[in-house]
Amino acid sequence: MLHNKKILLGITGGIAAYKCAHLVRLFVKKGAEVKVVMTPSATQFVTPETLSVLSKNPVVSEFFEKPTHEWNNHVHLAEWADLFLIAPATANTLAKFTTGVCDNIVTACYLSARSKVFIAPAMDLDMYQHPTTKANLKTLEGFGNKIIPAESGELASGLTGEGRMAEPENIISYIEKYLAGSSPFSQKKVLINAGPTYEAIDPVRFIGNRSSGKTGVALADEFCDQGAEVTLILGPSVFKPKNSSVKIISVESAEEMFKVCTEVFETSDIAVLSAAVADYSPKEKSASKIKKSEGEMNIELTKTKDILASLGKAKKKQILIGFALETENAIEHAKEKLKNKNLDLIIANTTSEKNPAFGSDFNTICIIDKHNNLLNFEFKSKAEIAKDIVEAIKNYAEKK
Ligand code: CTP
Repeated sequence: MLHNKKILLGITGGIAAYKCAHLVRLFVKKGAEVKVVMTPSATQFVTPETLSVLSKNPVVSEFFEKPTHEWNNHVHLAEWADLFLIAPATANTLAKFTTGVCDNIVTACYLSARSKVFIAPAMDLDMYQHPTTKANLKTLEGFGNKIIPAESGELASGLTGEGRMAEPENIISYIEKYLAGSSPFSQKKVLINAGPTYEAIDPVRFIGNRSSGKTGVALADEFCDQGAEVTLILGPSVFKPKNSSVKIISVESAEEMFKVCTEVFETSDIAVLSAAVADYSPKEKSASKIKKSEGEMNIELTKTKDILASLGKAKKKQILIGFALETENAIEHAKEKLKNKNLDLIIANTTSEKNPAFGSDFNTICIIDKHNNLLNFEFKSKAEIAKDIVEAIKNYAEKK
């Protein structure tokens, strides 16, 4: 859920600030990009240098950089973030947030934030119980912020009770749960197939194609980043998803791809078939290496099963999306495939010597839905194309 998320972490001056080194590390491990802003007093509890090394980004604790006097633009920082987390949030900072006081970079980012704001308070027992603090937290919650409750335990004062900042692992899981709940694909099971298939001639030779699997892998990452439970059925490809939550099932032949796709499809909500499945496979597969002999050699080929068409027939409530790779009359052919294979959407793309869809990092696509609506996209990277496709599927699902 946190993979590729841009997180702005605001640290204020409490002893729990030392735990932020671990918190940043956990975010980075999850694949998030982290930028840190700190109040001047927070720098007394954990150094900006430590957080800069761990986040791999500069840390900002003043409105103006020393000695250049360059302005640290809090508006840009706040706009950059997908979510803003303030941890630890002291009683003083809570009071400032409540009344709109803007006297440091953290409070300035808070007032500029357009993203969801998460607040993890930390203070001593009596301060946390104080009606003023309770009222401030209620007000902040009323403003739409998410409060990550303080935990109980030993406090810096020596007292024991509620007031400790939630443990970094608990903060992460709180945010992950929130993101999962607010994602349009949460609870959705998505099947993606990708890559080429290899059709064995003998133990060392095969018939394959030039598909890299890049688009399908990018789609798996994008769906997963948006909260879906993704199963990627992957033919022989050197590319793998970045997001470790994607479940990968490796297959080699069209027949294996067919079997796994058919099984996974039954429990899927959405299926996107981007694999370049071989249309033909050698009729006989030699168990031993075929020796060369005089004269020509002929290999008899037999037709493979059309996985997409078969899923189109089996389709119940699933949203089924296919690809059409064409060299000419792309839209016309894609529309035929959309109808014949009983699809919801089809992604048409062309391949030529000048603009090879296979192997390249870029492509141009057109998405057609079953009501014949066309969406044309410009030439862009396959990662950006994956975002466009997921967005189109989201819009289609909402209208369905
Ligand atoms: N496809 C499939 N099983 C096959 C062949 C294709 O599931 N045996 C799927 C592909 O994954 C793609 C769609 O069908 O989503 C269209 O593939 P494409 O190669 O463009 O077309 P074909 O249907 O194979 O027809 P042709 O090769 O004649 O264009």
